Amino acid sequence: MISPTLVNLGYLIASVLFIMGLKMLSRQKTARMGNRLSAVAMLLAVVTALLSQEMGYTYIIAGFVIGGLIGTVAASRVQLTAMPELVALFNGFGGVASLLVGWAEYEDARWIWVQQAPTLITLLGTFLAVLIGGVTFTGSLVAYAKLAQKLPGRPLGIRGQQIINAVFLAAALAAGVAFMLNPVGMYPAFLALVGLSLVFGVLFTLPSGGADMPVAISLLNSCSGLAACAAGFVIDNTVLIVAGALVGASGLVLTMIMCKAMNRSLRNVLFGAFGGGGGKGEGAERGQENPIDADAASYVLEAADSVVVVPGYGMAVAQAQHAVRELAELLAENGTSVTFGVHPVAGRMPGHMNVLLAEANVPYDQLLEMDDVNAQMSNTDVAIVIGANDVVNPAARDDADSTIYGMPIINVDHARTVFVLKRSMASGFAGIDNPLFYKDNTRMLFGDAKASIEALIAELKEN
Ligand code: TAP
Repeated sequence: MISPTLVNLGYLIASVLFIMGLKMLSRQKTARMGNRLSAVAMLLAVVTALLSQEMGYTYIIAGFVIGGLIGTVAASRVQLTAMPELVALFNGFGGVASLLVGWAEYEDARWIWVQQAPTLITLLGTFLAVLIGGVTFTGSLVAYAKLAQKLPGRPLGIRGQQIINAVFLAAALAAGVAFMLNPVGMYPAFLALVGLSLVFGVLFTLPSGGADMPVAISLLNSCSGLAACAAGFVIDNTVLIVAGALVGASGLVLTMIMCKAMNRSLRNVLFGAFGGGGGKGEGAERGQENPIDADAASYVLEAADSVVVVPGYGMAVAQAQHAVRELAELLAENGTSVTFGVHPVAGRMPGHMNVLLAEANVPYDQLLEMDDVNAQMSNTDVAIVIGANDVVNPAARDDADSTIYGMPIINVDHARTVFVLKRSMASGFAGIDNPLFYKDNTRMLFGDAKASIEALIAELKEN
């Protein structure tokens, strides 16, 4: 056991390193270092916590070995495309950990509280750790199931959903208040709080889908931090309070950015503007698509002065990022100006496309944000859509009945020619048809994105 001064010093250094690490994550050049710094901070925080008081290490070592093994196997086996699901699961485990900390402390302290009343901070911390932790846990499990396509990605609502949600939330809050007013005698209220939080997490996340899913995911991420922060108050651990607050606050900033990107207010996402399905996009009469092969497409690309590449989830599935970089280099050698248009919610997790393109060493200054790329779209010769669908769906802009109406998109249809690289006419995450595919200036290059790009490269080299 080390002295309280050393404990505080360890926590202080860890907190400073967390803040520096987080700051460094905001720039591509410093992001790796920021990640390492945060990992060192976490190690320091854990070691300091373990040395801060007398404790039996048997269970801790057993948990460390079992959890470490499961984590290592899961992380090393996961396909890159399944990364968002894994992150959603880890988020949920963070939530349930906070719930269990709150619960365990309550079980332990209940008997002490008979003689010595707990502080308001302890009670409030326990209440919030259980409530937010429970919601985060089951909410993240639903998000995982939606991302892994074990549940449909579209909104799954029932009639009167908002009222049911409000009733469950009110019941959970009432149980929490009852517990706080009489923490020793109201054991059933505490158990009710646990159960209601878990159920509310499911009810809260099921109706979000399509365009709202990215917002729901970043909100759950933020909640996992807030739950940890509350758990920090319960066990009086400064570094947990700081780290939890950092995750909570940065998650909330990300949520606001996602809301802006999706043109949704947080209030709408939370309380009701979920698309209920059945929009025109789903039932609209299909037009006739125009297929093209790699040979013909390569001639158009060869003659193009400007090309915008718009990647989406299919690029991650096909692992086409390296081939995409090669194609961009080849076009640039031919005198074509090539830029990348990255939609904030393309793929399945924030920054998904940026990570893949950075991995393939696509220069960061070629990546343009949605507004910048849209400004130059009408002067663009060819837009190449690689495995993107919802983020380039003009129904979001033009069809007020569409479930994704109002979500800003990359206006690839404003380019002179659009090549869409995908395997079939299947829909994307939102599950709706895409009028882009039937436009006169659109050509469908069917096939796996990586194979199609490699074919384009081969043709360009041959021409
Ligand atoms: P999607 O709309 O999901 O479309 C992806 C397309 O990729 C599919 O239509 C699919 O068509 C194609 N594809 C799949 N595998 C392919 C392969 N091997 N080769 C070529 N194409 C392939 O993707 P998006 O445009 O990136 O939009 C993202 C969607 O996910 C949005 O609706 C967003 O709201 C949602 N979402 C995003 C996030 C975050 S934070 N980014 C989180 C959750 C949900 P085929 O099957 O015909 O090939």
